[in-house]
Amino acid sequence: MSEPAFEAIDLARSYRLEGVSVDALRGVSLRIGQGEFVAILGPSGSGKSTLMHLLGCLDRPTSGTLRVNGVDVATLDDTGLAELRNQSVGFVFQSFHLLGRTSALENVALPLVYRGVGKAERRERARQALESVGLAHRLDHRPSQMSGGEQQRVAIARALVGDPKVVLADEPTGNLDSKNGQEVMGILAGLNAERGVAVVLVTHEREVADLARRRIHVRDGLIELDTAQQPVAADGDPDARSAGRDAS
Ligand SMILES: Nc1ncnc2c1ncn2[C@@H]1O[C@H](COP(=O)(O)OP(=O)(O)O)[C@@H](O)[C@H]1O
Ligand SMILES: [Mg+2]
Repeated sequence: MSEPAFEAIDLARSYRLEGVSVDALRGVSLRIGQGEFVAILGPSGSGKSTLMHLLGCLDRPTSGTLRVNGVDVATLDDTGLAELRNQSVGFVFQSFHLLGRTSALENVALPLVYRGVGKAERRERARQALESVGLAHRLDHRPSQMSGGEQQRVAIARALVGDPKVVLADEPTGNLDSKNGQEVMGILAGLNAERGVAVVLVTHEREVADLARRRIHVRDGLIELDTAQQPVAADGDPDARSAGRDAS
């Protein structure tokens, strides 16, 4: 039996700013299995990105337990955490986070540099990843020469190049028009359906959330509703009662 992708127990994260403490997450417990497709919803400032950064090993909890693919992050030093991040998760940000003056191919190959993969193999794997998001014809283009939709597809290719079991996407369609947004969502949904990659994505859009089989609503740093823990309502929509409460 394989470990769940994520297991969080009473996870909390506070930020200290000039002596003032902000409790961004106040005790979140959840379990996300391999191959799941989960949408995280909630108003602006509710702690969604904070949660995603913790799951993505980009940050550490203030308290509570987090296991990623069975590994307790508290047992890792910063190098170990970076390794877990590099090997287990791919992260897609709203604002792409690409190196603007570096080719698509090199952007995508970068995570493999940190894994010590040789140059020829890096380039071949990056090429394949770009091909899988429909960008085989853009290998040598720089992000600054690409549309937003293309840049986000490069970012997805970068998230995929290391063959992660999980892709985390924080409002991946937030900076895209609806056509490009749909294309990006189609790629993420396809990854989940065809390759069995678990996808956890933050979204404000109901149509996007409806693609996911499970929805987790976050509010004020807490899980308000998790459809995986909710009896299915008579109308078949387990979170019908909170529909429309996430307008940002
Ligand atoms: N690096 C940070 N330093 C201080 N406060 C932060 C930081 N990141 C987030 N916060 C605060 O934590 C709360 C949750 O933020 P965030 O997780 O970004 O919410 P969301 O993604 O749901 O909009 C907000 O009050 C935000 O201002
Ligand atoms: Mg956010």
